Amino acid sequence: MVFGKCLNKYYKKYFLQFLIGIVALTIVDLLQIRVPIIIGDITDGIVDGGVRQEFLLDKALYLAQIGLSIALGRFIWRNLIFGASRNIEFHIRNDIYSHLQKLSQNYFNKHKTGDLMAHATNDVNAVRMAIGPGLLMVIDAIVLITLVLYNMIYTVDLRLTMIAVMPFPIIIFLGFIISKSMKHRFNDKQEAFATMTDMVQESFSGIRVIKAFIQERKEIKAFAKTNENNFDKNIRLAKLMSSIEPIIGFIVGISLVLTLVYGGRLTMTGNISLGELVAFINFLAMLVWPMIAIGIVLNVIAQGKASLDRIEKILEEPLEIFDREEALNIENIKGEIEIKNLSFKYPNSNEEVLKNINIHIKPGQTLGIIGTTGAGKTTLVNLLLRLYNVPNNKIFFDGKDIMKIPLKALRKNIGYVPQDNFLFSDTIARNIAFGLSQEDMDQIIKNAELASVHDNIIEFKEGYTTMIGERGITLSGGQKQRISIARALMKESPILIFDDAVSAVDTDTEERILSSLKDKRKNRTTIIIAHRISTIKHSDHIIFLDDGEIVEEGTHEYLVALNGQYNSIVKKQQLENMIVN
Ligand SMILES: Nc1ncnc2c1ncn2[C@@H]1O[C@H](COP(=O)(O)OP(=O)(O)O)[C@@H](O)[C@H]1O
Ligand SMILES: [Mg+2]
Repeated sequence: MVFGKCLNKYYKKYFLQFLIGIVALTIVDLLQIRVPIIIGDITDGIVDGGVRQEFLLDKALYLAQIGLSIALGRFIWRNLIFGASRNIEFHIRNDIYSHLQKLSQNYFNKHKTGDLMAHATNDVNAVRMAIGPGLLMVIDAIVLITLVLYNMIYTVDLRLTMIAVMPFPIIIFLGFIISKSMKHRFNDKQEAFATMTDMVQESFSGIRVIKAFIQERKEIKAFAKTNENNFDKNIRLAKLMSSIEPIIGFIVGISLVLTLVYGGRLTMTGNISLGELVAFINFLAMLVWPMIAIGIVLNVIAQGKASLDRIEKILEEPLEIFDREEALNIENIKGEIEIKNLSFKYPNSNEEVLKNINIHIKPGQTLGIIGTTGAGKTTLVNLLLRLYNVPNNKIFFDGKDIMKIPLKALRKNIGYVPQDNFLFSDTIARNIAFGLSQEDMDQIIKNAELASVHDNIIEFKEGYTTMIGERGITLSGGQKQRISIARALMKESPILIFDDAVSAVDTDTEERILSSLKDKRKNRTTIIIAHRISTIKHSDHIIFLDDGEIVEEGTHEYLVALNGQYNSIVKKQQLENMIVN
């Protein structure tokens, strides 16, 4: 059993369930203790010779009754205690997931998905083991050991008890040592398996690259090695597990020999009856499991505690991005964006990726951004969406500081096509309508048409209900981008941001998308980031970003006339077009 702040409320919630479970457990132990005593009575009866049929039948019936009650009791406590621990496991997992959903982009940059998955699976599991089986073993062991020792001493003999239990501390010690190294070997085994799955997954995802570079043989060799490691770890665990029983059996054997030698003498001298000796040996057998359990439970609890600490670290991870107390009560943004003297460094980085940026976009205007890779274009968008915190009084929407706009309002008013246009393993329709409560088919089709992807979609056998991603078809880069555009349009937001959203689309389709969006964008503020001049040349204002700084800005015509970096790209791309066409 482990304690921690995040568990207390659940202990309270399931207190009654735990309590009744523990009572049932104690009753079962009390009943179990009766069994050796009855067997002893029967033995003595037989030895005395005066046993009648009724006596035996009586005892047998009594034993059967006890047996039934034990079964019933076990059923009850198992359901209650294990049930409560499963319930708590369920709640903690939900707690972790919902907290993780609220954490910032920055948190996920710092933590590996695999580690977070491990916390949500292995650690939660270890906590459940500690508060379910762990709790159970502690109570069971304490109650049973006390009752058995009491009976051995008071109903049989103190000296005999002391001699018989001499080897038992070794069992506790062994239980502790073995379960500890078992845990290690078990972890090794799991890790070996995880490595193998990771490797298989990656090599299947990258099968095209492997084939193109003729690396099959090397992959097979590498797999064989990982598989061998997995095999070794399994064998190590199996060896340890198979050694437990013989070792413990041997120690119990020693104890039994001691009992028979000394107890036999006591019986012959008439100090104890044969029935008492038989009862005693049965008691002895009852001690073995609780002794092993103590050793195990010490590890289970230590494990659970360590896991709980890791879980609490996640649950206590403060939210970085949240609505400030001074947040304004606004729902809608008209679409004016102003950026004043904005410089920005990523958390944990000393490099200024944006330097002294000044931009003013009026509602309904279009801003084009072009620049080298790594110039800070995506960073600027990250800040407009407040995926990272922005210094105060640097970015304003409708004249209000972004830091004072509620996150929900901000993000509701921005339609966004991310550069890495991520789509979910779901139907096309649901990907387009993502985040909207209702799937309005007309709306979905209308926006797919605007994004010039409708014709592609209806060519698929299942049209808009076609599954995409892991469980469905693979889309081309351009198709993905256009579906992402349709998704962004669904929001009907006053601000639209396209981050390199048409880079994989050919120039003709691009032109079609841009002209069909023209109407739609008329009253909306639009930011278009692109590599191609053709994508942005009609923008009201264009900025050229280089290494975090605006180096040139103005209209297309102005920038061409300026004959600077922008124009050199214009010329380069004209040349490329001439070669291609
Ligand atoms: N999460 C991050 N932490 C630290 N540096 C980052 C992070 N994301 C991007 N950068 C750095 O910021 C700079 C600008 O990146 P980015 O905005 O993605 O450029 P662009 O979109 O113009 O290609 C790059 O030097 C990049 O390495
Ligand atoms: Mg980018």
